[in-house]
Amino acid sequence: MASVAILTAAGSGSRLGFGYPKALVEVEGRTLLAHAALGLASTGEICRIVVTAPVDHVAAFEEILRSTTELTVPWEVVTGGATRQASVAAGIAALEREAGGHPTYEVVLVHDAARPLAPASMMKRIIDTVRAGYSAVIPGYAVTDTMKLVAPALDAEGPELVAGTADRSSLRAVQTPQGFTWDLLVRAHAAGVDRARSEETAATDDATLVEAVGETVWVVEGHSAALKITTAHDLAVARLLASEIGA
Ligand code: C5P
Repeated sequence: MASVAILTAAGSGSRLGFGYPKALVEVEGRTLLAHAALGLASTGEICRIVVTAPVDHVAAFEEILRSTTELTVPWEVVTGGATRQASVAAGIAALEREAGGHPTYEVVLVHDAARPLAPASMMKRIIDTVRAGYSAVIPGYAVTDTMKLVAPALDAEGPELVAGTADRSSLRAVQTPQGFTWDLLVRAHAAGVDRARSEETAATDDATLVEAVGETVWVVEGHSAALKITTAHDLAVARLLASEIGA
Protein backbone atom coordinates (compact mmCIF):
# COMPACT_ATOMS: atom_id res chain seq x y z
CA MET A 1 0.00 0.00 0.00
CA ALA A 2 1.09 3.53 -0.66
CA SER A 3 2.85 5.94 1.63
CA VAL A 4 2.13 9.66 1.48
CA ALA A 5 3.54 12.81 3.08
CA ILE A 6 2.23 16.05 4.47
CA LEU A 7 4.85 18.80 4.33
CA THR A 8 4.00 21.70 6.61
CA ALA A 9 5.28 24.99 5.26
CA ALA A 10 2.53 27.49 6.13
CA GLY A 11 4.44 29.22 8.93
CA SER A 12 5.31 32.89 8.67
CA GLY A 13 8.93 32.49 9.72
CA SER A 14 8.66 35.72 11.69
CA ARG A 15 11.49 34.68 14.06
CA LEU A 16 13.83 34.51 11.07
CA GLY A 17 12.97 38.09 10.13
CA PHE A 18 13.07 37.94 6.30
CA GLY A 19 9.57 39.36 5.80
CA TYR A 20 8.51 36.34 3.72
CA PRO A 21 7.69 32.72 4.63
CA LYS A 22 10.56 30.65 5.99
CA ALA A 23 9.94 27.92 3.40
CA LEU A 24 11.05 30.40 0.70
CA VAL A 25 14.43 31.05 2.32
CA GLU A 26 17.29 29.51 0.33
CA VAL A 27 20.06 27.16 1.41
CA GLU A 28 22.69 26.39 -1.27
CA GLY A 29 20.54 28.01 -3.96
CA ARG A 30 17.40 26.00 -3.19
CA THR A 31 14.40 26.92 -1.03
CA LEU A 32 13.72 25.06 2.21
CA LEU A 33 10.45 23.99 0.54
CA ALA A 34 12.23 22.34 -2.40
CA HIS A 35 14.90 20.75 -0.18
CA ALA A 36 12.27 19.18 2.08
CA ALA A 37 10.08 17.96 -0.80
CA LEU A 38 13.08 16.44 -2.59
CA GLY A 39 14.17 14.78 0.65
CA LEU A 40 10.79 13.08 1.03
CA ALA A 41 10.79 12.05 -2.64
CA SER A 42 14.31 10.63 -2.42
CA THR A 43 13.12 7.90 -0.03
CA GLY A 44 11.53 6.27 -3.08
CA GLU A 45 8.58 5.39 -0.83
CA ILE A 46 6.27 8.38 -1.10
CA CYS A 47 3.61 8.49 -3.81
CA ARG A 48 2.11 11.91 -3.04
CA ILE A 49 3.17 15.03 -1.13
CA VAL A 50 0.68 17.60 0.13
CA VAL A 51 2.32 20.91 1.03
CA THR A 52 0.66 23.49 3.27
CA ALA A 53 1.28 27.11 2.30
CA PRO A 54 0.38 30.50 3.77
CA VAL A 55 -2.88 31.65 2.19
CA ASP A 56 -1.24 34.31 -0.02
CA HIS A 57 1.67 32.11 -1.15
CA VAL A 58 -0.06 29.08 -2.69
CA ALA A 59 0.79 30.15 -6.26
CA ALA A 60 4.41 30.98 -5.35
CA PHE A 61 4.85 27.57 -3.70
CA GLU A 62 3.33 25.85 -6.74
CA GLU A 63 5.72 27.70 -9.02
CA ILE A 64 8.74 26.61 -6.96
CA LEU A 65 7.69 22.96 -6.95
CA ARG A 66 6.88 23.08 -10.67
CA SER A 67 10.33 24.45 -11.43
CA THR A 68 12.02 21.81 -9.23
CA THR A 69 12.34 19.44 -12.16
CA GLU A 70 13.99 16.65 -10.11
CA LEU A 71 10.75 16.37 -8.10
CA THR A 72 8.91 13.59 -9.87
CA VAL A 73 6.52 12.61 -7.05
CA PRO A 74 3.00 14.06 -7.55
CA TRP A 75 2.37 16.99 -5.24
CA GLU A 76 -0.36 19.43 -4.30
CA VAL A 77 -0.23 22.75 -2.44
CA VAL A 78 -3.09 23.60 -0.09
CA THR A 79 -3.74 26.57 2.17
CA GLY A 80 -2.55 25.89 5.71
CA GLY A 81 -4.36 26.76 8.91
CA ALA A 82 -3.78 29.20 11.76
CA THR A 83 -1.64 26.66 13.64
CA ARG A 84 0.67 23.85 12.57
CA GLN A 85 -1.94 21.38 13.84
CA ALA A 86 -4.63 23.00 11.67
CA SER A 87 -2.25 22.91 8.69
CA VAL A 88 -1.68 19.16 9.10
CA ALA A 89 -5.47 18.71 9.31
CA ALA A 90 -5.76 20.60 5.99
CA GLY A 91 -3.19 18.21 4.53
CA ILE A 92 -5.15 15.19 5.77
CA ALA A 93 -8.34 16.62 4.22
CA ALA A 94 -6.56 17.12 0.87
CA LEU A 95 -5.31 13.52 0.85
CA GLU A 96 -8.82 12.30 1.69
CA ARG A 97 -10.24 14.35 -1.19
CA GLU A 98 -7.61 12.99 -3.57
CA ALA A 99 -8.64 9.44 -2.64
CA GLY A 100 -12.32 10.22 -3.23
CA GLY A 101 -13.10 9.93 0.49
CA HIS A 102 -11.84 6.34 0.66
CA PRO A 103 -8.10 6.53 1.28
CA THR A 104 -6.15 3.30 1.47
CA TYR A 105 -2.83 4.89 2.40
CA GLU A 106 -0.54 2.84 4.58
CA VAL A 107 2.07 5.13 6.14
CA VAL A 108 1.83 8.90 6.34
CA LEU A 109 4.88 11.01 7.11
CA VAL A 110 4.33 14.47 8.55
CA HIS A 111 7.36 16.66 7.93
CA ASP A 112 8.29 20.31 8.46
CA ALA A 113 9.86 22.37 5.68
CA ALA A 114 11.74 23.98 8.59
CA ARG A 115 13.87 20.77 8.66
CA PRO A 116 15.04 20.79 5.03
CA LEU A 117 18.13 18.60 5.45
CA ALA A 118 16.54 15.58 7.19
CA PRO A 119 18.28 12.61 5.54
CA ALA A 120 16.33 10.11 3.41
CA SER A 121 17.91 7.25 5.41
CA MET A 122 16.24 8.55 8.58
CA MET A 123 12.91 8.96 6.79
CA LYS A 124 13.13 5.42 5.46
CA ARG A 125 13.86 4.11 8.95
CA ILE A 126 10.68 5.75 10.18
CA ILE A 127 8.56 4.34 7.33
CA ASP A 128 10.06 0.86 7.83
CA THR A 129 9.38 0.96 11.57
CA VAL A 130 5.73 1.92 11.03
CA ARG A 131 5.44 -0.89 8.48
CA ALA A 132 6.92 -3.28 11.05
CA GLY A 133 3.85 -2.69 13.24
CA TYR A 134 4.71 0.39 15.31
CA SER A 135 1.86 2.73 14.39
CA ALA A 136 3.41 6.02 15.54
CA VAL A 137 7.16 6.55 15.15
CA ILE A 138 9.16 9.71 15.75
CA PRO A 139 12.87 10.56 15.51
CA GLY A 140 14.51 11.76 18.72
CA TYR A 141 17.95 12.42 20.17
CA ALA A 142 19.34 12.61 23.69
CA VAL A 143 19.69 16.15 25.05
CA THR A 144 23.07 17.26 26.32
CA ASP A 145 22.07 20.37 28.29
CA THR A 146 20.68 20.03 31.81
CA MET A 147 16.96 20.77 31.62
CA LYS A 148 15.11 22.90 34.21
CA LEU A 149 11.41 23.52 34.64
CA VAL A 150 10.80 27.21 35.32
CA ALA A 151 8.07 29.28 36.93
CA PRO A 152 7.25 32.85 35.80
CA ALA A 153 9.36 35.71 37.18
CA LEU A 154 7.95 37.44 40.25
CA ASP A 155 7.99 40.77 38.39
CA ALA A 156 8.31 41.69 34.71
CA GLU A 157 11.99 42.69 34.90
CA GLY A 158 13.13 39.91 37.21
CA PRO A 159 14.60 36.49 36.45
CA GLU A 160 12.48 33.33 36.16
CA LEU A 161 12.46 30.83 39.02
CA VAL A 162 13.62 27.24 38.77
CA ALA A 163 10.73 24.94 39.65
CA GLY A 164 12.55 21.65 39.19
CA THR A 165 15.14 19.67 37.27
CA ALA A 166 14.19 17.05 34.70
CA ASP A 167 15.91 13.66 34.51
CA ARG A 168 18.03 14.29 31.41
CA SER A 169 18.61 10.62 30.69
CA SER A 170 14.93 10.09 29.93
CA LEU A 171 14.50 13.20 27.75
CA ARG A 172 14.59 13.25 23.94
CA ALA A 173 14.39 16.24 21.63
CA VAL A 174 12.14 15.17 18.78
CA GLN A 175 12.25 15.96 15.09
CA THR A 176 10.31 15.37 11.90
CA PRO A 177 9.32 13.54 9.80
CA GLN A 178 7.05 11.66 12.17
CA GLY A 179 5.43 8.54 10.74
CA PHE A 180 1.99 7.09 11.44
CA THR A 181 -0.43 4.60 10.07
CA TRP A 182 -2.98 6.63 8.13
CA ASP A 183 -5.90 5.55 10.31
CA LEU A 184 -4.16 6.51 13.56
CA LEU A 185 -3.15 9.97 12.34
CA VAL A 186 -6.70 10.67 11.14
CA ARG A 187 -8.19 9.47 14.45
CA ALA A 188 -5.73 11.49 16.55
CA HIS A 189 -6.41 14.68 14.59
CA ALA A 190 -10.17 14.18 14.73
CA ALA A 191 -9.99 13.80 18.52
CA GLY A 192 -7.79 16.89 18.90
CA VAL A 193 -9.61 19.17 16.48
CA ASP A 194 -10.80 21.64 19.14
CA ARG A 195 -7.33 22.42 20.40
CA ALA A 196 -6.11 23.27 16.86
CA ARG A 197 -7.65 26.73 16.88
CA SER A 198 -5.16 28.70 18.97
CA GLU A 199 -1.37 28.74 19.31
CA GLU A 200 -1.73 28.21 23.07
CA THR A 201 -3.67 24.96 22.85
CA ALA A 202 -2.54 23.51 19.49
CA ALA A 203 -0.20 20.53 19.49
CA THR A 204 3.29 21.40 18.24
CA ASP A 205 3.74 17.93 16.81
CA ASP A 206 1.46 15.10 15.72
CA ALA A 207 2.77 12.58 18.23
CA THR A 208 1.22 14.72 20.99
CA LEU A 209 -2.22 14.07 19.48
CA VAL A 210 -1.54 10.34 19.30
CA GLU A 211 -0.47 10.33 22.95
CA ALA A 212 -3.72 12.15 23.80
CA VAL A 213 -5.82 9.30 22.35
CA GLY A 214 -3.91 6.85 24.52
CA GLU A 215 -1.85 5.17 21.81
CA THR A 216 1.86 4.39 22.15
CA VAL A 217 4.40 6.54 20.32
CA TRP A 218 7.80 4.96 19.55
CA VAL A 219 11.11 6.78 19.23
CA VAL A 220 13.90 5.90 16.79
CA GLU A 221 17.29 7.60 16.47
CA GLY A 222 17.06 11.09 14.98
CA HIS A 223 19.78 12.85 13.00
CA SER A 224 21.73 16.06 13.55
CA ALA A 225 21.10 17.05 9.91
CA ALA A 226 17.37 17.17 10.65
CA LEU A 227 17.94 20.36 12.64
CA LYS A 228 15.07 22.83 12.73
CA ILE A 229 15.64 26.27 11.25
CA THR A 230 14.01 28.87 13.47
CA THR A 231 16.60 31.59 14.02
CA ALA A 232 19.30 33.27 11.91
CA HIS A 233 21.84 31.15 13.79
CA ASP A 234 20.02 27.92 12.81
CA LEU A 235 20.04 29.09 9.19
CA ALA A 236 23.78 29.75 9.31
CA VAL A 237 24.38 26.25 10.71
CA ALA A 238 22.12 24.68 8.05
CA ARG A 239 23.97 26.57 5.28
CA LEU A 240 27.32 25.34 6.57
CA LEU A 241 26.03 21.78 6.85
CA ALA A 242 24.46 21.87 3.37
CA SER A 243 27.71 23.06 1.83
CA GLU A 244 29.59 20.26 3.62
CA ILE A 245 27.21 17.47 2.63
CA GLY A 246 26.54 18.88 -0.83
CA ALA A 247 22.78 19.18 -0.32
O1 C5P B 1 6.30 27.46 13.88
P1 C5P B 1 7.15 26.26 13.78
O2 C5P B 1 8.56 26.59 13.38
O3 C5P B 1 7.07 25.32 14.94
O4 C5P B 1 6.55 25.48 12.55
C1 C5P B 1 6.91 24.15 12.25
C2 C5P B 1 6.45 23.86 10.82
O5 C5P B 1 5.04 24.00 10.73
C3 C5P B 1 7.08 24.79 9.78
O6 C5P B 1 7.52 24.04 8.66
C4 C5P B 1 5.93 25.74 9.45
O7 C5P B 1 5.97 26.23 8.12
C5 C5P B 1 4.70 24.85 9.65
N1 C5P B 1 3.49 25.61 10.01
C6 C5P B 1 2.34 25.44 9.25
N2 C5P B 1 1.21 26.16 9.59
C7 C5P B 1 1.21 27.02 10.61
C8 C5P B 1 2.37 27.19 11.41
C9 C5P B 1 3.50 26.46 11.09
O8 C5P B 1 2.33 24.68 8.28
N3 C5P B 1 0.10 27.71 10.87
